[in-house]
Amino acid sequence: MKNIYLNIYKPNKANLKKAKKNIENNNVIGLPTETVYGLAGNAYSNKSVKKIFSLKKRPLYNPLIVHFKNLKNAKEDVIFNNSFLKLYNVFCPGPITFVLKKKNNSKISDIATSKKKTVAIRFPKHKVARKLLSLVKVPLAAPSANMASKLSSTSPYDVVEEFKNKIKIVLDGGKSKVGLESTIIDLTERPKILRPGSISPKRISKILKKKVKIYKNIKQIKSPGQLKVHYSPGIPVKMSQKRISKKNEALVGFGKKFKKGKKYFNLSKKGNLHEAANNLYTTLRKIKNSGFKSIVVNKIPNVGIGIAINDRLKKASNK
Ligand code: TXA
Ligand code: MG
Repeated sequence: MKNIYLNIYKPNKANLKKAKKNIENNNVIGLPTETVYGLAGNAYSNKSVKKIFSLKKRPLYNPLIVHFKNLKNAKEDVIFNNSFLKLYNVFCPGPITFVLKKKNNSKISDIATSKKKTVAIRFPKHKVARKLLSLVKVPLAAPSANMASKLSSTSPYDVVEEFKNKIKIVLDGGKSKVGLESTIIDLTERPKILRPGSISPKRISKILKKKVKIYKNIKQIKSPGQLKVHYSPGIPVKMSQKRISKKNEALVGFGKKFKKGKKYFNLSKKGNLHEAANNLYTTLRKIKNSGFKSIVVNKIPNVGIGIAINDRLKKASNK
């Protein structure tokens, strides 16, 4: 059988150079970050960015996140404010994305930002992402490395399963530590969370010394990550269920008392919400690939990163 995983490269010096060359040639690569894997290209290049949209089959109205190495680089393209600097100092580099105003003279491709006057920026913590950002000297536009509306990738193997040989190089940064996409906070007006993540609203509110809420007005979509259907494993998902109710169904749960058996998938035996988040996408992928026809999920506590888990499950369960 053909080995489909040949495009996965260890992130040594030679391979990082190869990745750099690809970025310089306006190609896209699979990039590990601490949240999920990204499909990365030069954020300053229309050509590169167009490839990202077309590979993912992502609608052009859904803007990409732009990744920077540090503040000095980001300052070229966006307008900073106090709330941003406060949060940056505590959480960056790390799993948080800031929506800020784009500078008039920014070189970021208008296609990347879907012609908006704002940009979502992030400073990833993963060593490999940081190394590549130092090498390429341009910001990297990188949405999650999955087909639009499907589950994000948390390992290099997931990226290859999504895109096969359409991307020539995926850097192997191991399993993503967080396993869920970054928290997105809009700081262009009164701060609001557009997508919950591992950094909770409570922690953010504490730093900004004001209550920051999750934005729920889906009539006026601010971030298409808020679109109703998203993060879908490709089979029906039902939340807050106690037990399996039909044939070929798998139950996902949490904690020491959770049942054992072929149809039962425990996100964290220790009952740890961070571990559960880390296992969520891997588990949903595994269930789908094992041939189950539907998934039911026990109730997950809606606190801390549990809020982000429930957000993803809710979108995965929408039809
Ligand atoms: O953890 C992450 O954030 C990963 C890794 C690879 O960094 N990236 C990621 O990208 O999740 P993506 O494209 O799958 O999700 C980005 C979300 C989308 O929902 C998009 O609508 C929103 O960010 N977004 C991007 N630019 C925006 C903007 N200017 N205003 C509001 N939302 C924006
Ligand atoms: Mg995504």
